[in-house]
Amino acid sequence: MSAIQEAVKQKYGAIAEAVTNLGKPETCCGPSPCGCGDPITSDLYSATETDGLPGAAVAASLGCGNPTALIDLKPGQTVLDLGSGGGIDVLLSAKRVGPTGKVYGVDMTDAMLDLARANQTKAGITNVEFRKGTIELLPLLDNSVDVIISNCVINLSTDKDAVLREAFRVLKPGGWFAVSDVVVRGDVPAEVRRNMELWVGCIAGALKDTEYEEKLSKVGFQDISVEPWRVYNIDDARSFLASAGLEVDALAQRVDGTIVSAFVRAQKPMKTGCCGPECCS
Ligand SMILES: C[S@@+](CC[C@H](N)C(=O)[O-])C[C@H]1O[C@@H](n2cnc3c(N)ncnc32)[C@H](O)[C@@H]1O
Repeated sequence: MSAIQEAVKQKYGAIAEAVTNLGKPETCCGPSPCGCGDPITSDLYSATETDGLPGAAVAASLGCGNPTALIDLKPGQTVLDLGSGGGIDVLLSAKRVGPTGKVYGVDMTDAMLDLARANQTKAGITNVEFRKGTIELLPLLDNSVDVIISNCVINLSTDKDAVLREAFRVLKPGGWFAVSDVVVRGDVPAEVRRNMELWVGCIAGALKDTEYEEKLSKVGFQDISVEPWRVYNIDDARSFLASAGLEVDALAQRVDGTIVSAFVRAQKPMKTGCCGPECCS
């Protein structure tokens, strides 16, 4: 396991333990303090969506979007959440796919898996399974999933090509990849890219929008789109940089407007590759 992956595990394990023991996170996805308008994780879900979910699932919400509201999940579908955390998007998806559907959550952090399973039990939802694993090597069969969702996790990976290859492998032909993620438009200063606190805070590891599209296309996806829906302005940049111990005045101007939360969508083609002379015709 790389130093970055170990740091990610430590950070999110500590958050899960704080939610389990104190009922709230001590810190959050973004590097700034939680609960007082953290620009990345705040205001993602409507009260109608969170009503009826266990408080700890909502308290542990560390995403940067609401993927379940942006994809049309249908009864009977199989959904996979990459980096499912405390389980909020898994539980919301489970309601949408209904008793004939199934939702898998994959996460590498034990305390998050424990919290997610406790939230599942509290919610009384049975069409859900949380599996331990990494998103770079998914514990799921080939061609077994209709929709992949994920919320602010792929930016944390140090091997995004492997994540996208695995996503393509487990999706059924015609299946959709529909994730929320932090994405960069243009160039981000090297000091920001090198900062570990900003990596585990979902910023330094973010792909450029064009890179995301290229990588998705390279593994075989089609109909690719990257749609920014929340742009982090200079005040947000100041708070990210200050909490990571970086020179705020020198860098904030250069970061203003370059970091966004985006909805990334792509489809696995109905027919992939060529299995023999007949299937190519
Ligand atoms: C920012 S939190 C997001 C959690 C959840 N998606 C949400 O919206 O609340 C990141 C989660 O992804 C998990 N994670 C990060 N990198 C991972 C990897 N390479 N493989 C599996 N899980 C990972 C962490 O353990 C953590 O639970």
